[in-house]
Amino acid sequence: MPFEYVLMQKEGRIAKISIDRPDKLNALNIQTISELTAAFEAVRDDDETAVVILTGAGGKSFAAGADIGELAELDAAGGKAFAERGHRLCNLMENLGKPIIACVNGFALGGGCELAMACDIRIAGEKAKLGQPEINLGTIPGYGGTQRLPRLVPRGIAMDLLLTGRIVGAEEALRIGLVDRVVSQAELEEETMKLAESLVLKPAFALKAIIEAVNRGGDMSFEDASRLEASLFGLTCGTADMKEGTAAFLEKRKATFTGR
Ligand code: COA
Repeated sequence: MPFEYVLMQKEGRIAKISIDRPDKLNALNIQTISELTAAFEAVRDDDETAVVILTGAGGKSFAAGADIGELAELDAAGGKAFAERGHRLCNLMENLGKPIIACVNGFALGGGCELAMACDIRIAGEKAKLGQPEINLGTIPGYGGTQRLPRLVPRGIAMDLLLTGRIVGAEEALRIGLVDRVVSQAELEEETMKLAESLVLKPAFALKAIIEAVNRGGDMSFEDASRLEASLFGLTCGTADMKEGTAAFLEKRKATFTGR
């Protein structure tokens, strides 16, 4: 399907989704959010795709947040609908059932930072800049930032970033846990692809089970989350990949997973 602001590429079992509005630093207007939603639905439903990379086109920005021109026009009802549209996208990403790697190649501000936080792993270039500067626009994060940020980094640090709107560089983002790896800008694409390729070789159902256990379990009581984990663990034991993984260990050979 043709998109105006989103670019979709496939390399084997890896789908790369790029936010493609570089003249506006990939600011997320409503159309971009709709196109991203359709793109993630397409990769979710594509059995061939095992791993997804989300990045920004143009080399300077991942996404510089919601489109402030559109934001400026919102009234109370419109603002709520605007936030709900972002929530639908971020929740879709979080529940995709396939690992999503955020390749943070530049600015990941506001909605951009929120999209990165809805991914499973964040790998950043050394020039990346992340933050939730909405406070400086007289508003608050509306795509899940007030909820995902304090679940990702210590609560006090989340409060600091949310209340001050302070923007952090890649090294600080790594130190506080907002990104998981930092590499040089030159190596970012290659390192992201290497990470994606390593995940393609993993057993697909177990990947899905980990994502579900961590994401859904994090919002449950420990007891309920343990029950969820036990059910998912049980389901992995019924897969051919689990039989293969354990047999390969016992036979001292490398496992070959088939996704069954
Ligand atoms: N919404 C709409 N347009 C945006 C945008 C956003 N969030 N972020 C950047 N742009 C546009 C700029 O208006 C400019 O467009 P123009 O060339 O038509 O004037 C273009 O992208 C380039 O941005 P510019 O500000 O000139 O680049 P810069 O390198 O000087 O600064 C930033 C980069 C990211 C620091 C700055 O653009 C910025 O602060 N953006 C807003 C970040 C933000 O508050 N995001 C949260 C929104 S809820």
